[in-house]
Amino acid sequence: MTVHPVISPARIGSLQLRNRAAVAPMSRVSTRGDGVATAAMAEYYARFAAGGFGLVITEGTYIDERFSQAYPDQPGIVTAEQVEGWHRVTEAVRAAGGRIALQLMHAGALVQGNRHSDRTVAPSAVPPKGAKMSAYGGEGPFALPDAASRTDIRDLVEGFAFAAGQARAAGFDAVEIHGANGYLIDQFLTGYTNLRDDEYGGEPAGRVRFAVEVIEEVRAAVGADFPVGIRLSQTKVNDFGYRWSGAVEAETIFRAVTVAGVDYLHLASEGRDWYETATLDTGDTITRLARTVTGLPVLANGGMHAPDLARTVLDEGHADMLTLGRGALANPDWPKVIAAGAHPAEFDRALLTPDVTLANQQSWNARVTANAV
Ligand SMILES: Cc1cc2nc3c(=O)[nH]c(=O)nc-3n(C[C@H](O)[C@H](O)[C@H](O)COP(=O)(O)O)c2cc1C
Repeated sequence: MTVHPVISPARIGSLQLRNRAAVAPMSRVSTRGDGVATAAMAEYYARFAAGGFGLVITEGTYIDERFSQAYPDQPGIVTAEQVEGWHRVTEAVRAAGGRIALQLMHAGALVQGNRHSDRTVAPSAVPPKGAKMSAYGGEGPFALPDAASRTDIRDLVEGFAFAAGQARAAGFDAVEIHGANGYLIDQFLTGYTNLRDDEYGGEPAGRVRFAVEVIEEVRAAVGADFPVGIRLSQTKVNDFGYRWSGAVEAETIFRAVTVAGVDYLHLASEGRDWYETATLDTGDTITRLARTVTGLPVLANGGMHAPDLARTVLDEGHADMLTLGRGALANPDWPKVIAAGAHPAEFDRALLTPDVTLANQQSWNARVTANAV
């Protein structure tokens, strides 16, 4: 039996990883309203480390007490209590042999429950597509956001930088800036949500400016040696069919974020078929293009729990690492299962039914602990 290529060491900046399998960020909205990570969350995240994942990326975590919170019961990284809560999580993951990155998230217009403010801020005052997600306790349309003023933009950038510093203090091994899936940074990147006529809008080179400033300030806050990544995507939670205009737009974004100072790129994809979502007008995949253009480690996502797809993506040079969302929930021991040449279990939607709340997470913890490989 040939060893699966995911079972080999990897490196992100200064961070050495035991293999190429990472847990994708997954919101579990399981705090008790205060945004403080709970003991159940420490158990949940440590479970993936014990299962052999080289890296765990946390759920999207809000970065300030203004307009960033997306969901009720979402964790934050703002207050001393929130830093302390996450500290318990990072210690539990490290004790289980893993490494952990915090995903820094600002909802922009896609707010479904922010206890700090009723105001929402986005690049432009455009009604968001789609509707609030029921899994996070939402219903109905999103509110019409205010177009961010220049002062708002300054505050937003500083919020990311402050939160990154808090993450380092909480013991995280890296931070991942959430620039994907339709949230604030992606709203700046996307032409139909960014109608600005200043230097933050216009062509892709202008629309990426906000992301660049966030990366630069985050880098300044955490220092040169601390790994910083960015997650990008074509698909959005409120627009699954969206695609960048082609390889030229992708290259513009990849180059800009690299010059700004990230250590890795994480490309999210929620397509039913990974190749369909990832293939560009040139025929190349978006992740392989990112590797070529940036020379940085690239993390591929979307159905990577399937052992054959995972092998092909790594062997054919489409990515350096793989991140698993639903596949990790179904198989918290996925790296061990793969190393043993066994077949991972199928994801069952019931794992997230009726919602993704604290009670759901506690029952998941109990079930997967009982079934440890
Ligand atoms: C319950 C759930 C919550 C998610 N929350 C986040 C999140 O907080 N941040 C993020 O970038 N992506 C989030 N995603 C998207 C996943 O990271 C991933 O891109 C998606 O599930 C596709 O990968 P998969 O085929 O491995 O599941 C979430 C997905 C699920 C299923």
